[in-house]
Amino acid sequence: MVSSDVLTDFMVTLSPLEKERAGKFRFDLHRNRFIVGRGLLRTILGRYLQIGPSKLDFVYSPQGKPALDLKFGGGGFHFNLAHTEDLVLFVVTRVGPVGIDVESIRPLKEMGDLVARFFSQRENELFQKLPPDRKPTAFFNLWTRKEALLKATGEGITRALNLVEVSFLPDEPACVLAISGDSEKAASWSLHALSPAPGFVGAVAIQARNTTLCCWNNNDRLPISCQVRERQCGRSLTYLAVSDTKL
Ligand SMILES: CC(C)(COP(=O)(O)OP(=O)(O)OC[C@H]1O[C@@H](n2cnc3c(N)ncnc32)[C@H](O)[C@@H]1OP(=O)(O)O)[C@@H](O)C(=O)NCCC(=O)NCCS
Repeated sequence: MVSSDVLTDFMVTLSPLEKERAGKFRFDLHRNRFIVGRGLLRTILGRYLQIGPSKLDFVYSPQGKPALDLKFGGGGFHFNLAHTEDLVLFVVTRVGPVGIDVESIRPLKEMGDLVARFFSQRENELFQKLPPDRKPTAFFNLWTRKEALLKATGEGITRALNLVEVSFLPDEPACVLAISGDSEKAASWSLHALSPAPGFVGAVAIQARNTTLCCWNNNDRLPISCQVRERQCGRSLTYLAVSDTKL
């Protein structure tokens, strides 16, 4: 559990709009996850921009993707975050639009139907041939890689899941194969597979070729004390995973 002191520390950094949103969650668990996610996001971005976390302002795309308000020059930073259960992941980069996703690998009864319904024909054919024990990882590879890309564009997953084709077989390197059937378009993207904690898979998609990912896994008990280490090395990304954070 995150202590109420930590929650209060994060809460005071939130904007009035974020506080209003926090107030609308029905369950404490979800409210606290939101507060910690936004509080940490502000802490991380504030350190990159060298300003206090409460001084940051976000603007939102029509589909809800947050970005830094240009009054900070944006610092040239692109970022995204994803949470699932007790895990929250952030990606920050100057390289280009970026998206991140994470899921726990779990058996889902309707996995085969979801792939048939929402994914491409090629993906469906390959998926249905897999032995049952390989399907959960393959499914969540597919899901997180597509969602990361659709979060990078800001579009979200409501319409275009089948238009983005990605590699997904366990042990196959992550890459975008086609976007609306166009492999040239796909080649302008990098995709990175993540294993942020046992039983979880994730992905980062970034609109740039040949990117490198630097990962930090913060296992400090209290996220507020996390050391956000910065390393801007050319075209590399910064990814920070806060795991083992009991919310
Ligand atoms: C955006 C979306 C992919 C998030 O999926 P999810 O599995 O529920 O959540 P995740 O943990 O992966 O990501 C949530 C975070 O992504 C960011 N986000 C929100 N909308 C986003 C978008 N369109 N693109 C990229 N990132 C987005 C936010 O930071 C959010 O966390 P926060 O609000 O707690 O800070 C999904 O909700 C979606 O496709 N929405 C449709 C977008 C849309 O059409 N909205 C209608 C108008 S508002």
